[in-house]
Amino acid sequence: MKAVVFHGVRDIRLDDVPEPKIEQPGDAIVRITASAICGTDLHFVRGTVPGMKPGTILGHEAVGVIEQVGKDVRNLRPGERVVVPSTIGCGYCSYCRAGYFAQCDHANPNGPDAGTTFFGGPQSSGPLQGLQVEFARVPFAAANVVKLPDSIDDDRAILLSDIFPTGWFGAELAEIKPGDSVVVFGCGPVGQFAIASAKLHSAGRIFAVDCIPTRLEMARRQGAEVINFNEEDPVETMKRLTGGIGPDRAIDAVGVDALAPTSGPAGERAKAQRQQFQTEVQQISPEARPDGEQWRAGDAPSQVLEWAVQSLAKAGTLSVIGVYPPTDRFFPIGAAMNKNLTVKMGNCNHRAVLPELVEYVSSGVVDPLDVLTQMEPLRNAIEAYQAFDRRDAGWIKVELRPQDARQAA
Ligand SMILES: NC(=O)c1ccc[n+]([C@@H]2O[C@H](COP(=O)([O-])OP(=O)(O)OC[C@H]3O[C@@H](n4cnc5c(N)ncnc54)[C@H](O)[C@@H]3O)[C@@H](O)[C@H]2O)c1
Ligand SMILES: [Zn+2]
Ligand SMILES: [Zn+2]
Repeated sequence: MKAVVFHGVRDIRLDDVPEPKIEQPGDAIVRITASAICGTDLHFVRGTVPGMKPGTILGHEAVGVIEQVGKDVRNLRPGERVVVPSTIGCGYCSYCRAGYFAQCDHANPNGPDAGTTFFGGPQSSGPLQGLQVEFARVPFAAANVVKLPDSIDDDRAILLSDIFPTGWFGAELAEIKPGDSVVVFGCGPVGQFAIASAKLHSAGRIFAVDCIPTRLEMARRQGAEVINFNEEDPVETMKRLTGGIGPDRAIDAVGVDALAPTSGPAGERAKAQRQQFQTEVQQISPEARPDGEQWRAGDAPSQVLEWAVQSLAKAGTLSVIGVYPPTDRFFPIGAAMNKNLTVKMGNCNHRAVLPELVEYVSSGVVDPLDVLTQMEPLRNAIEAYQAFDRRDAGWIKVELRPQDARQAA
């Protein structure tokens, strides 16, 4: 069967791999009908989140049909449609029971302190084989996968596997109260769902910051007040638009691949910080290259964190859902401390929020399809990765369809 396989930094290939088998009594085998490419996958290929093991199948987003279950899986049977959450928990440790699936004590083969377990990630996350493939093994299936009603088709359901839950989680961490003003940094797929989730949390105003016109336009269609950081200084602009106060809540939906502005008043300021940003890139991810056309790493890892801390209202809240690797030690701690900011962050506990979001989608409160811009057969995965990585105009969220590859074979 075909799969997207990590061979090295800037080297991914569509390979033939063996089909998975049940290994533990709690496993299920899922025939994947929809997968997707995520900004997190880009960090791995660009080398900005290090530690990937060559041979790992990439991808942590999937919808599919149960093909086979182990003897300890009592709530699922072959033929049922499910969404697979990106992170995996055992369902019975104290963390999972409290809803912290991303901090499960048992799912990670490297031990309880190794970090979040998810599909298709670095060595420290398992590694588990990923979901950009035709069939996948899902551990602890009974406690993880969520059954889908017929009313949610695959194109909608795939957005529930990771990015809608993550945007929702970002809005929850941001402690949004009705009427609050919120800024979302990054208008990629996760940022779009952070905006949608801020609306569901009754935010009063939402600012959205990015530099890509098609992404800013999608944010504007959702009702956000958009700011292009290559034209305006986002901190100054938000202060001006809020009577000098700044937004109450900020969500970082960018992560380690943050870019420095290249023009406008913010570009001038970033020039003065170039040396500092270069030092950050070198210390965080020595293999990454912040130049070239393809697999270009971000050149300013702390830029969004700085803008968020500078723009937030005093005693505001910063929610960090953009991914930073454990090697990153750059946060403007002094400025945040002296403004009495609250900072919350982490990997989404997908399984804990999924049932509620499935309801929102099936009842039509949210139509996640607005964010899906590309649907490609798995055989086109490498080209699709390249276009999403370059942030080609209009390429916002890419679904991969593994079964199309199968039919063509
Ligand atoms: N915490 C979690 O559980 C979780 C889950 C999924 C994804 N993520 C992370 O969320 C982040 C976003 O994912 P995505 O799929 O939307 O990725 P993406 O790469 O498509 O989007 C990132 C966006 O940030 C913009 N950007 C770059 N520099 C910026 C800056 N200085 N200011 C504002 N915007 C800037 C880019 O132009 C791009 O549109 C990634 O870091 C990803 O790893 C986290
Ligand atoms: Zn993802
Ligand atoms: Zn657990």
